[in-house]
Amino acid sequence: MAYVVTIENCPIMAKDIIRNLKQKAVALRRRLGIGVCLRTVLLIFCLTFFWVQMQMSDVSDNDVIQILSKPDGLLDANDSMLQLIPQHLHKFLVTPSQRDRPHQAILPGNNSNEILGAPSLNASEIRRLINQINERQYIQNEEVYGPLQNNSLVIVIQVHTRIMYLRHTIVSLARAQDIENVLLIFSHDHYDEQINELIRMIDFCKTMQIFYPYSIQTHPNTFPGESPEDCPRDITKNEAIKRNCINAMYPDQYGHYREAKFTQTKHHWWWKANRVFNELNVLANYSGPILFLEDDHFVAEDFIYMLKLMVKSANSVCPQCSILSLGTYLKTYNFYGEAKKDILRVIRQQQIFAAELIPPTWSFKIVPSFTHYDKAEISQWISSKHNMGMAYNRTIWKKIVDCADTFCKYDDYNWDWSLQSVSNNCLSHEFTTFVLKAPRVFHIGECGVHHKKSCFDMALIAKVQKLLNSVTKYLYPDKLEVAYAPVKKKVLRKGNGGWGDIRDHELCLRIVDRKT
Ligand SMILES: *[C@@H]1O[C@H](CO)[C@@H](O)[C@H](O)[C@H]1NC(C)=O
Ligand SMILES: *[C@@H]1O[C@H](CO)[C@@H](O)[C@H](O)[C@H]1NC(C)=O
Ligand SMILES: *[C@@H]1O[C@H](CO)[C@@H](O)[C@H](O)[C@H]1NC(C)=O
Ligand SMILES: *[C@@H]1O[C@H](CO)[C@@H](O)[C@H](O)[C@H]1NC(C)=O
Ligand SMILES: *[C@@H]1O[C@H](CO)[C@@H](O)[C@H](O)[C@H]1NC(C)=O
Ligand SMILES: *[C@@H]1O[C@H](CO)[C@@H](O)[C@H](O)[C@H]1NC(C)=O
Repeated sequence: MAYVVTIENCPIMAKDIIRNLKQKAVALRRRLGIGVCLRTVLLIFCLTFFWVQMQMSDVSDNDVIQILSKPDGLLDANDSMLQLIPQHLHKFLVTPSQRDRPHQAILPGNNSNEILGAPSLNASEIRRLINQINERQYIQNEEVYGPLQNNSLVIVIQVHTRIMYLRHTIVSLARAQDIENVLLIFSHDHYDEQINELIRMIDFCKTMQIFYPYSIQTHPNTFPGESPEDCPRDITKNEAIKRNCINAMYPDQYGHYREAKFTQTKHHWWWKANRVFNELNVLANYSGPILFLEDDHFVAEDFIYMLKLMVKSANSVCPQCSILSLGTYLKTYNFYGEAKKDILRVIRQQQIFAAELIPPTWSFKIVPSFTHYDKAEISQWISSKHNMGMAYNRTIWKKIVDCADTFCKYDDYNWDWSLQSVSNNCLSHEFTTFVLKAPRVFHIGECGVHHKKSCFDMALIAKVQKLLNSVTKYLYPDKLEVAYAPVKKKVLRKGNGGWGDIRDHELCLRIVDRKT
């Protein structure tokens, strides 16, 4: 399989290269005692290099596909991207012809199109709505696809606000073999009628929506949202005590105070797993694996087949494997990456979250090759490598919940690092994972939630789509070839902070205690 490469943000990269080369030139000049002439030569070299890079970036972008998408991920009716997708799924991606009706709040399962509120609902109305929906546990399309069976699969997708990715995620799911036996649960931390409408359009399997009830949206001026009594992120503890702000005693390990929007994802991740394993009636007797995805994960058409093959294979060759992992990240080589490998880690630790402070990256995105299409690996679970497309069952979840204290008090706002801490510091045996070498889940929202909105990358989606269209002969292997990954030393890490506030610890623990 060929690697597909694009180059982004070239002007920024070029500036850096020039700065870098200038520094080298200065150093060289000092050493060799040469002057203006060399500087000129170097400058010409730089500019040429810059120009070549610009050309390359143009070529590779146009080369892939013509991109006409809008920021909400909708495509024009004649967008070339649609050629990659069967006609009957275009409805998830193109602007509907009559989108002129006002936004309506319709309870799932109520066909009466009852208008429950004005276009913008206030927080207390949203709270009321989501409580109603959560209580009802309505399953859409159950009359078509029948009740959940033991050999069905349950998939839970954590959704924030990024409908532009979700559209494509849904299209990829629609194309999967065996999807009609799936119960697809969407877990939301933001009530949005456009997203609800999109989910109501799903007709290829059973669906259910659940809503995280402690969101910033439903608590705009009070914890878990931001309240006026909170300490500002950057003041010192002494100053905070002087001001008598509410969380003065609980900065994180790096001395920063809580920021609501960065704590929400970990709470939501924790809540949704508790919700599905403990509180949903439909899953009371379900003992199979649950696959956890996010709104920007794109699946290959054989992912359900592969998951079942993995379960079977793990049962015989790796009974100690507790987490199955279908995913991988598209490898991103960025300009900073080579020079300063640790920069992301540093950024996380300092909690410089604001998009403008994150250095612009110039990246090659490399879609993984499919040459290992039938290979799997047994490995210790490593949060940064195996946190995507994870599946596990209730037995494993119980082990995680028994370590709630570790998860909820670990000073890191990332759920995956917190789970790593559970694995390393609380379990009697670290998690072992069974992971596919050729991923069946791809991350299309490469920029992540903490970055600028503008990073939505239709070219990347098109690339994944093209890759998957071109590897069909490698899908559905008869069996898996399993290898052991070398065991690495256990690394005990300090955590990235952002989770020092005792109110977050308590909320997290309360989420488990709701019902036991
Ligand atoms: C199709 O594409 C052409 C240009 O390529 C554009 O002018 C036209 O508006 C598009 N039609 C629709 C329905 O989007
Ligand atoms: C469904 O709609 C009907 C008619 O508008 C309304 O009376 C009823 O309360 C709704 N049911 C639910 C569960 O929202
Ligand atoms: C929210 O909206 C409802 C209905 O419009 C209204 O009755 C209620 O007072 C509003 N609540 C707040 C806090 O504004
Ligand atoms: C599903 O499997 C579990 C455990 O094997 C069993 O207790 C339960 O009765 C099964 N449910 C159905 C509907 O077959
Ligand atoms: C679960 O199993 C119990 C006992 O067999 C049964 O009464 C109940 O209806 C089942 N629930 C569901 C949702 O299948
Ligand atoms: C859950 O998964 C574990 C590890 O993969 C396995 O040992 C166990 O039998 C599974 N539990 C059920 C009820 O299938």
